[in-house]
Amino acid sequence: MQIISTIAQLRMTLSDRRTVALVPTMGNLHAGHLSLVRIARGCGERVVTSVFVNRLQFAPHEDFATYPRTFERDCEMLEAAHCDIVFAPHESEIYPDPQAYTVHPSPALADILEGQVRPGFFSGVCTVVLKLFNIVQPTVAVFGKKDYQQLMVIRRMVRQLALPIEIVAADTVRDVRGLALSSRNSYLTEAQRIEASQLNATLTTLAAAVKSGHTDWPALERAAQDFLSERGWQPDYVAIRRRIDLREPAVPDPSHDDPTADEPLVALAAARLGGARLIDNVEL
Ligand code: PAJ
Repeated sequence: MQIISTIAQLRMTLSDRRTVALVPTMGNLHAGHLSLVRIARGCGERVVTSVFVNRLQFAPHEDFATYPRTFERDCEMLEAAHCDIVFAPHESEIYPDPQAYTVHPSPALADILEGQVRPGFFSGVCTVVLKLFNIVQPTVAVFGKKDYQQLMVIRRMVRQLALPIEIVAADTVRDVRGLALSSRNSYLTEAQRIEASQLNATLTTLAAAVKSGHTDWPALERAAQDFLSERGWQPDYVAIRRRIDLREPAVPDPSHDDPTADEPLVALAAARLGGARLIDNVEL
């Protein structure tokens, strides 16, 4: 496995034109990231994993400075997962001068949910991902459904800008209690880590209610948020949305069969527990 930190060296290494599957990450890798690498291995002749904590997607009050950086361990894990190249640029390589040209994704998709709570977040994500795409020129890039809205925002960017890249979605990897693996789980105490599984449990309960015929979306969302609040969480949102565009689904009219009743939905949640802000989602 090669570890490369400059764009020039990466371009030289990739110049033999063998296809590349890219896995963009911010490091502090866990089994979720490694599942993306595994998927990428089946998608390209070689796998590039980028490790770059992207300042542009952190608000000034957020955890850019304290975001866990564990590069040596990350490399060991990537080597064991048969990654071919780690691209780990210094910040001055990606942002040699202040990034004045930035991507502004569609507000309808990027200014809701995560984008509403974290203004500018998806602009920061899209800008660095587009830049990584231009640097690596992969034929495939793999993203996790754990960050459901991010996956959708990137998919739409690729489509709208006609980038010749296939976006592959990876299922969320969870611990035995259902907690979605996340670098930010390291902010949790042991007791909080046990409680943290309630985020997924709440969504699973909500999904079961929908499956058994409940269609009062606002009531289901409220019940889930109240449940979390009562347990000491501070929920930002629990939202039932259409998978296709993350818009609110129509409220079914109980007096007749609703034509949109079978449109695929997803429940997304974000909530703070102690010092950590966790997100999760389940497709309904
Ligand atoms: P990061 O949080 O490091 O996540 C990198 C990739 O791993 C993302 O596609 C994310 O959805 C996926 N991932 C995280 N946890 C996962 C889990 N438990 N199961 C499956 N996949 C999981 O997302 C980012 O970095 C950044 O925003 C990035 C796209 C790299 C741009 O800076």
